[in-house]
Amino acid sequence: MRIRKFDLRKDLNAVLQFQYETYERNFPGLRVDRAFLADYGRQLRAAARSRAEQLWVLEVGAKVQGFVWGTLITSMVDEFVGYIKNVYVAPEIRSQGYARRLLETTEEWFRSEGAAKASLDASLCNPEAMALYQKAGYRAARVRMEKLLDNPEGRPEDNE
Ligand SMILES: CC(C)(COP(=O)(O)OP(=O)(O)OC[C@H]1O[C@@H](n2cnc3c(N)ncnc32)[C@H](O)[C@@H]1OP(=O)(O)O)[C@@H](O)C(=O)NCCC(=O)NCCS
Repeated sequence: MRIRKFDLRKDLNAVLQFQYETYERNFPGLRVDRAFLADYGRQLRAAARSRAEQLWVLEVGAKVQGFVWGTLITSMVDEFVGYIKNVYVAPEIRSQGYARRLLETTEEWFRSEGAAKASLDASLCNPEAMALYQKAGYRAARVRMEKLLDNPEGRPEDNE
C-alpha cells in the first residue's frame, strides 16, 4: 500500500469513477451523470495546477483504490484553514484504516502549510463517514437543517 500524489494523466479516470458512489451516497436524489463528471474533471484539472489544493491517491498493488482532496481556504472565522473536499476508499478494502491514513496525510500537509485547523462537511445520511470523522477527531461545529415543504405544485416555471 502506498499513498502518493495524484497524477492527473494517470489517475483522472479512477478518481472520476469513485464519484458515483461518493456523491449519490452523500446527496440522496443526486444522479452522477456525464455532465457532472465533466465538471468534476474540470475541477480536478484546476486543482492539480493550484498551490492551494493537494490530492493524493491510495494504491494497493498497482491499483488506485482510494483518494483524498485537501484545499486551503479562508472561512468567515478562519483566515487560513484546511478543508477536506473528498475522501474515498474502495468497498473491497474498507474498514482497514485506509481512510484514516488519507485524512492524516492531508492534515500533515495542512500543518506544513501553516494551518491550525482542518474542516470538512459531512452528510448525516452517511454513518460510516460520520464515524470516520469522529474517530479522526472532527467535531460538529454547525449543522445544516432542512424541512420538506408541502408543495405539490413544484416550481412555477415547471408547470407552464
Ligand atoms: C467513509 C469511507 C471513506 C471510510 O473508509 P474506510 O477506509 O473504510 O475507513 P477506515 O477503515 O479508515 O475507518 C476509520 C474509522 O471510521 C469508522 N468507520 C469506517 N467505516 C465504518 C463502518 N462501516 N461502520 C462503522 N464505523 C466505520 C470507524 O470508527 C473506523 O475506526 P475503527 O476501525 O478503529 O473502528 C468509505 O466508506 C467510503 O469511501 N465511502 C464512500 C465515499 C464517501 O462517502 N466518502 C465520504 C464523504 S466525501
